[in-house]
Amino acid sequence: MTVTFPEGFVWGVAGAAHQIEGGNWNNDWWEWEHAANTTCVEVSGDACDSFNRYADDIALVRDLGFGSYRFSIEWSRIEPEDGEFSRAALDHYRRMLAACHECGIAPAVTFHHFTTPRWMADRGGWSDPTVVDKFTRFCETAVAHLGDLISLACTINEPNVVSLLGYLMERFPPGLADFGLYAKAAEHLRDGHSRAFDVIKAGPGDFPVGLTLSMSDWWTPEGGEAGLERARAMHEDYYLEAARGNDFVGVQAYTLTRIGLDGLPMDPPADAPMVESMGYEYWPQALEASIRHAVDVTGCPVYVTENGIGTEDDPTRVKFVTDALQGLDRCLADGLDVRGYVYWSLLDNFEWAEGYKPRFGLVAVDRETFVRSPKPSAAWLGAHAKANTLP
Ligand code: GCO
Repeated sequence: MTVTFPEGFVWGVAGAAHQIEGGNWNNDWWEWEHAANTTCVEVSGDACDSFNRYADDIALVRDLGFGSYRFSIEWSRIEPEDGEFSRAALDHYRRMLAACHECGIAPAVTFHHFTTPRWMADRGGWSDPTVVDKFTRFCETAVAHLGDLISLACTINEPNVVSLLGYLMERFPPGLADFGLYAKAAEHLRDGHSRAFDVIKAGPGDFPVGLTLSMSDWWTPEGGEAGLERARAMHEDYYLEAARGNDFVGVQAYTLTRIGLDGLPMDPPADAPMVESMGYEYWPQALEASIRHAVDVTGCPVYVTENGIGTEDDPTRVKFVTDALQGLDRCLADGLDVRGYVYWSLLDNFEWAEGYKPRFGLVAVDRETFVRSPKPSAAWLGAHAKANTLP
């Protein structure tokens, strides 16, 4: 039996500026990649050279059968110094948006995907109180130039990951383990989202605006329920609450989080199937659980703005996505308002501290020539996207 998704359901693929463009030397990540004693295994360098090859990438999205391309605009290119905006950078992203429309692709734009300009990072990044005004000004300027061509906007990508990994777990810049600064960053990210939401809505264009959040399924042994609730409230609900009343909430789910009786994250059992490249559990059920929780807390319509797997084994990708989409279909059957599914990612790209090793892409990229080679999963998922059917 063929299961068809609702009419207008959006099928897309994603990427983010720093992970694919190359040469983003003016942000905190570049600095972090080159600093001594960080967790980065390699530098981003030329990435996939998508800054130059974006037209090929967008044509590929179309040729594979997808209707939407999610990408981010790089704050450090658009505002290379405090208050100094680059017309040329804004024009570049305008050309990208125009290229999407020429290909019949709906562009979904993320205004902040992990990277912050050096001038802002030097003042403390997201823990500095001025960041909310600065980020709002950036969004206002960018939307004034680009808004009429945008189809959907994400304000801040995974604010919960930016705060947790950057200010508490020492894994992302600025590499801190400071609970006070973590709390400040979390608050500023949350306010930054709300202010960005308002200015983007007030700008040109008329398109849905929302937040994207890193979510997971959660598990705890008997007796750990209160600890699990506390951890989930800190990592997910705090931000989900700020999404209430937005046009949508963007769910991004990959794995399972286990919380021990001490209320802290615990390792999976030795025999748990793993996504080796990421060191976390293979758990396609994460998507369904995350959609349900996002709806419970926000009452918002959902777009799955990221889901995928970093693996060299393409058939495993097909299996993972099939299982995840079946969970999404159960949500639809229960009447939940899920409007789209965006696979992370179009290209094999720079996976932050893990470098180029994890292979999330539907399309392989030669690290020397940048030649793109679609994997079998690309044609497979693209065909389902075109037919709007459940695998
Ligand atoms: C994130 C980001 C992406 C990642 C993807 C795979 O979730 O960390 O949004 O930039 O590359 O999630 O880990």
